[in-house]
Amino acid sequence: MSTTWDGLLLNASLATLDGDGYGAIEDGALGWKDGVLTFVGPRAALPGDAEARTDAVIDAGGGWITPGLIDCHTHLVFAGDRAHEFERRLEGASYEDIARAGGGIVSTVRAVRAADEDTLLAESLPRARALLRDGATTLEIKSGYGLDFDNERKMLRVARRVGEALGIDVRTTYLGAHALPPEFSGRADDYIDAVVDWLPRLRAEGLVDAVDAFCERIGFTPEQTRRVFEAARALDLPVKLHADQLSDLGGAALTAGFGGLSADHVEYTDDAAVRAMAAAGTVAVLLPGAFHCLRETQRPPIEAFRAHGVAMAVATDCNPGTAPLLSLPLAMSLACTHFRLTPEEALRGATVHAARALGLHDRGRLRAGLRADFVHWAIRRPAELCYWLGGDLARSVFVAGYPVGR
Ligand code: NIG
Ligand code: FE
Repeated sequence: MSTTWDGLLLNASLATLDGDGYGAIEDGALGWKDGVLTFVGPRAALPGDAEARTDAVIDAGGGWITPGLIDCHTHLVFAGDRAHEFERRLEGASYEDIARAGGGIVSTVRAVRAADEDTLLAESLPRARALLRDGATTLEIKSGYGLDFDNERKMLRVARRVGEALGIDVRTTYLGAHALPPEFSGRADDYIDAVVDWLPRLRAEGLVDAVDAFCERIGFTPEQTRRVFEAARALDLPVKLHADQLSDLGGAALTAGFGGLSADHVEYTDDAAVRAMAAAGTVAVLLPGAFHCLRETQRPPIEAFRAHGVAMAVATDCNPGTAPLLSLPLAMSLACTHFRLTPEEALRGATVHAARALGLHDRGRLRAGLRADFVHWAIRRPAELCYWLGGDLARSVFVAGYPVGR
């Protein structure tokens, strides 16, 4: 017997997402060691001594295995809720109306500032647990409800603690330029100075993996966004952007100009920007939960993304205002229904392309040498992941070779 494997899983089909389509392998087998996949293929191709290589042979009893899902855009660290805004929108108020009247993001800022770090963690953990239960093994979490140094730092520290508490990988994004805090009212440029000033200190504490901003009429201008991006570039940090969600301010093109990892939302992105994204390799992160909850009608330019070869990721955008969405398969389903992605595109969007949107190369597919992050689903065909609206389909979730979350 040559190597000892930490685990061997048999008796399931694999959607490897490696190569074309689902990269499907019927009657597949997965082997892993030290958190990394060592065998991915048909059971018939296993080495003859495979079952003797490990004490941990798992009989999956049917179903499908996919790579661990990657939620590449969330704001899941927050306090309180905004259910009253949901009610106001149902009565006819728009998201922008509510924001301009002092609600919206700034009302969550008040709640986050009032919560101490442990309270913020206790409020955020159940959301992360829900995402994990539905198959997410990597989560991106943004700051952006603190809007001063101490509170942005508190949020990012809580994000890291969420990962440690659940045994999953959390990538943090600094979103200091999310909204203008009341103490800077009428002084947006001064606030951007402060955002830029806080960045190196937060980074030095190991709290920042990427930098984001909200470029919008109710957020920050392209010029202010550019200043944030320049500060990120000076520190070698990758950028991404809330771009072209409610109007076309040229955010996606600006992001591509900085070689950004992703432009997110992108409902109003025009053709020239799509071409710039293709040339820069910037991923389009689709957030159908926000589109759904805001009852938007302007779809992102999906056909143009396809035509120009822009990778499309799908994420929950989990946040208290526009997307209180706690399931990535449900986001995938909404992406199919609202944006007409195929179920295969949606699954690729929550695995392969989501990894790219976070600049991660060690996950997103089932392939020997990549992380042993995978999910066993109680489904007969992969399209079911997008077909059911909820339903607790994940039977077990493995992160770096270990079952988590049940
Ligand atoms: O991605 N658009 C800005 N940020 C969030 C919403 C945040 C909020 O309303 O609390 C989004 O939709
Ligand atoms: Fe967002």
